[in-house]
Amino acid sequence: MEVDMEEHMQEETIRILAIETSCDETSAAVVENGTRILSNVISSQIDLHKKFGGVVPELASRKHMEKMDPVIQEALEQAGTTFRDLDAVAVTYGPGLVGALLVGVSEAKAMAYAMGKPLIGIHHIEGHISANYIEHPDLKPPFLCLVVSGGHTHLVHVKDYGHYGVIGKTRDDAIGEAFDKVARAIGLGYPGGPAIDRIAREGNPDAIRFPRAFMEDGPYDFSFSGVKSAVLNYLNQAKMRGETVVVADVAASFQKAAVEVLVKKTMKAAKNHGFDTIALAGGVAANSWLRESLGAACKEAGIGFHHPSMLFCTDNAAMIGTAAYHAYRQGVRHGLDLNAVPDLKLPE
Ligand code: KG4
Ligand code: ZN
Repeated sequence: MEVDMEEHMQEETIRILAIETSCDETSAAVVENGTRILSNVISSQIDLHKKFGGVVPELASRKHMEKMDPVIQEALEQAGTTFRDLDAVAVTYGPGLVGALLVGVSEAKAMAYAMGKPLIGIHHIEGHISANYIEHPDLKPPFLCLVVSGGHTHLVHVKDYGHYGVIGKTRDDAIGEAFDKVARAIGLGYPGGPAIDRIAREGNPDAIRFPRAFMEDGPYDFSFSGVKSAVLNYLNQAKMRGETVVVADVAASFQKAAVEVLVKKTMKAAKNHGFDTIALAGGVAANSWLRESLGAACKEAGIGFHHPSMLFCTDNAAMIGTAAYHAYRQGVRHGLDLNAVPDLKLPE
């Protein structure tokens, strides 16, 4: 008798322990069938890096080493799961800080080996994109995804689970990096994205006209170093003239300029490539102005729009577990020679 493997596996319960340590969050999650999050423990290092104004890689690795075991323990406890109940161990193996990634990768390899379970390496961006599947089970590839985080600004054609095409990306700063640098310059501390989002609500987004970068030779590429420098110049000039700066106006005007470019390019890509669904992913997907603007543009164009809830926008292991579920079903397995790859490319 022929067995339909896809159908057979769909009925089976697949429980995956996922680990994420690519930057400054130590996270472990237990995810069932890609959408049931049994636990998602996140130990943030924000307080540790705050006084340096950004992530210090060496400190991040050490903190991951300290937190990795207790975070996994807690994830298993909250899920009411033991090692025996797991079907696979998944881990982010790139891109990210090499020392930080290595902590998660080594741990996942040791666990997979000790338990005799399959090991699945996941691309960090694939995790961010997959965060959309958690609360939107009807969302299925193909669709267009705008990935906006501290390290990335990508327009991605999600062709299928595990298959991607990069339509455009930033040529210099990532959008989250620009938010963080502008926030530091106006004295809002680290991480700057949420602080700008908050204070911008009290400001006038049309107070200052900051530049929007639309490159003719790359309609879907981004550049945020210009708008960042324009904000820094504005602040310096105000200081030299002895003028007071309205922080909320600067934040709101910067945010409007940055978001306008993201929305226009995403809508252009959707129109020209014929996508009927757009998803938003990554830490900056938590930005309220971006969610509203892109949501409104999609509504006007009759395009479906999805974004993860706040918790699943910034780095977390649940999104890695969701991506790993689809990889597991496609037969993706990694050997114990899996290594951290800081500049890992999205699989095509
Ligand atoms: O995805 P993520 O947690 O880490 C990376 O993979 O980079 O993204 C972190 C970035 C930081 O730059 C942070 O400032 C930004 O996401 N971010 C925000 C907001 N929340 C987090 N940016 C703008 N508005 C927000 N509400
Ligand atoms: Zn991330």
